[in-house]
Amino acid sequence: MDHSGFGPKVEIVASILSADLTRLGEHVREAKAAGADRIQVDVMDGRFVPNITFGPLVVEAVRRSTQLPIEAHLMIVEPERYVPEFASAGADLIIVHQEATPHLHRAIQQIHHLGKKAGVAINPSTPTAMLEDIIGDADSVLVMTVNPGFGGQEFITETLAKITRVRQTIMDRGLACDIEVDGGINDVTAPQVVQAGANLLVAGAFIFSSSDGVAAAIHRLRASVTT
Ligand code: DX5
Repeated sequence: MDHSGFGPKVEIVASILSADLTRLGEHVREAKAAGADRIQVDVMDGRFVPNITFGPLVVEAVRRSTQLPIEAHLMIVEPERYVPEFASAGADLIIVHQEATPHLHRAIQQIHHLGKKAGVAINPSTPTAMLEDIIGDADSVLVMTVNPGFGGQEFITETLAKITRVRQTIMDRGLACDIEVDGGINDVTAPQVVQAGANLLVAGAFIFSSSDGVAAAIHRLRASVTT
């Protein structure tokens, strides 16, 4: 049974940040064939985070490669400027950072008006209290378990308590909101975050940089959260 202790099905989200970009379509198809539930495109603007990565064109390319749900994780300032482009490019879930816009509620409304699911992400230093007046509108909360910007970083253990606080809020308020985690997720940290209350596990380096290949890595990740 790979359900979190709280009911929602545990899903594996393959982040393409560490994929081989010279054969992105192949890597996406391999991830799907091995059981990945979603694909995440890590969008970075070099301002909100100290790295520049992908734009709507890459979401379009991933859209042409798979039928899996695609998440656009917008690690950019003023994300509302680009929400329509990522929606048009084929993202199914658009994640914006609480820290990136003074108009977070309007950004969530904008995403929903475009017919997409809306996620709110918080960085490691952002208190869960900052979600209090928006969590009821979000389809998912993304608790960053590393400081965003790069793949292959060390998991920040202190985020486990944050995950549990968010899960408690969701349960207390009877919300149907997923909890996603992103950064340093592997077959050791995955059971820890699921135990803490997460049900969407983003993994990049563990999946695409593992020596035994994408399929074996995804199978190991799935096995680590299946009781
Ligand atoms: C933010 C990036 C990473 C990536 C996954 O830094 O968005 O979190 O998705 O990172 P790893 O390689 O740690 O799974």
